[in-house]
Amino acid sequence: MEILHVSAECYPMAKAGGLGDVVGALPKYQTKAGHYAKVVMPMYRTKFLYSNEWAVDYKGVAFLGGARFEFTIIKEKTNKLGFDLYLVDIPGLLDREKIYGYQDDTERFISFQIAVLTWVNQWSHQPDIIHVHDYHAGFIPFMLKNCFAFSKLAMVKSVLTIHNAQYQGVIGWDKYYLLPEYDSFKWGDLDWNNAINPLASAVKCAWSVTTVSQSYMNELRFHSNGLEKLFEYEKGKCRGILNGIDNEVWNPETDNYLDHNFSVKTVTAGKKKNKKKLCNLFGLDEHLPLFVFIGRLVGEKAADILPGAFLNVLHHQAGKASFLVLGSGDKAVEARLSAIMHQYPQHYYCVIGYDEALSHKMYASADFLLMPSRVEPCGLNQMYALRYGTVPMVRSTGGLQDTVTDMGEYEGFGIRFNHASEGDIAHAIYRATQVYQSKTHFEWMRKYMMQIDHSWERSVDEYMQVYL
Ligand code: ADP
Ligand code: GLC
Repeated sequence: MEILHVSAECYPMAKAGGLGDVVGALPKYQTKAGHYAKVVMPMYRTKFLYSNEWAVDYKGVAFLGGARFEFTIIKEKTNKLGFDLYLVDIPGLLDREKIYGYQDDTERFISFQIAVLTWVNQWSHQPDIIHVHDYHAGFIPFMLKNCFAFSKLAMVKSVLTIHNAQYQGVIGWDKYYLLPEYDSFKWGDLDWNNAINPLASAVKCAWSVTTVSQSYMNELRFHSNGLEKLFEYEKGKCRGILNGIDNEVWNPETDNYLDHNFSVKTVTAGKKKNKKKLCNLFGLDEHLPLFVFIGRLVGEKAADILPGAFLNVLHHQAGKASFLVLGSGDKAVEARLSAIMHQYPQHYYCVIGYDEALSHKMYASADFLLMPSRVEPCGLNQMYALRYGTVPMVRSTGGLQDTVTDMGEYEGFGIRFNHASEGDIAHAIYRATQVYQSKTHFEWMRKYMMQIDHSWERSVDEYMQVYL
């Protein structure tokens, strides 16, 4: 089967979060399973672009509204990612350093999608599946079905994977002219609540819809930022498929970012050495249980309640735990998290920014990883934590509840709580410090969770069933 993935992110070319990890791994494992999977994404000006070799695959012309634009598609020469990676360059729109956050993101991602279909439209054959990810590629199912310019592709099956339904890319109807000419009777396929909504449109028009865990699929019918009725109506073609993790990238035995590699057998000594190095770097006490948070500092991740929860524990359970935070996002949260460093320098450190290498060191060194997310469609951090012998502490929601069991249950290996509140986090930390004392139980939990299989092979099979 030939599968073309269309996405705004793909690791290691460009990653802002888990979407990048998934699009960098799923095609690789589809290829290993004997299929022909490719990825097409915008040509941002990233380090990966400049440090690899590319060949021009296609040069074309298209229109965004009335404006003509030229685009070029280049292909990575060596297949080093385990699949063919194509980049779309549109001068003036996609030639930027960052992935998101520009005022003209609407124009950037619509022109990207138009360029992709213009390119596919002139192939001598058709792909079996066009697999689009999130709203940035969400106009493609509509365009395939309804735009006159792409009528040749009308029978190509499109699959939408929703990684996060909070972001929908809504635009006013005044921007309708940006899309290539379409069958005007079909305007309703673009509309949700009197606006153009690319995510809603993709849910309506895609041949099949998946999201990244079964629990999140169920939640969408009750909480999906206004799309609840749509998910209820379309539930027949929707399915939850849990993400996997790339065990080649995330392997504590071979991970080049780590100071000391370790396996299930050597986990206790290995983690201890990594922790010592990391704690020394940030002036933390290596003998205390180390709690880490890694992620986007936004409301979905409940980052706003972290400062209060940390202060609560640092005041009331003084000297019982150390904390290390890595993340960026909301400026007010960044400031509050940074301020704690001055109050508790030996027990707390916070790095504001994005640092892939440090994140790997943290998964390897930490005793506990905190994820109090309000919304978590799948969550990859907790699965990386499991693989690196770090106990996940998660709110029972979405993919977190599908991947973590509570240590109070039979063969439970993590810590779960119900509310994204300072009290629940403080209580969970209290439970963690207790189990940390019980060395035999703690070691059993580590070894048990490191052996849980979250590899992509299982999910690849499920995607194949969706494609058929
Ligand atoms: P989301 O995609 O919602 O941000 P996920 O749990 O699916 O959440 O994936 C987050 C990914 O981004 C993980 O690979 C995590 O390690 C990484 N990540 C998040 N924030 C940072 C950061 N500040 N520095 C390095 N890696 C980060
Ligand atoms: C999104 C979700 C996250 C998920 C990731 C990859 O960013 O917020 O929960 O793991 O996509 O699917």
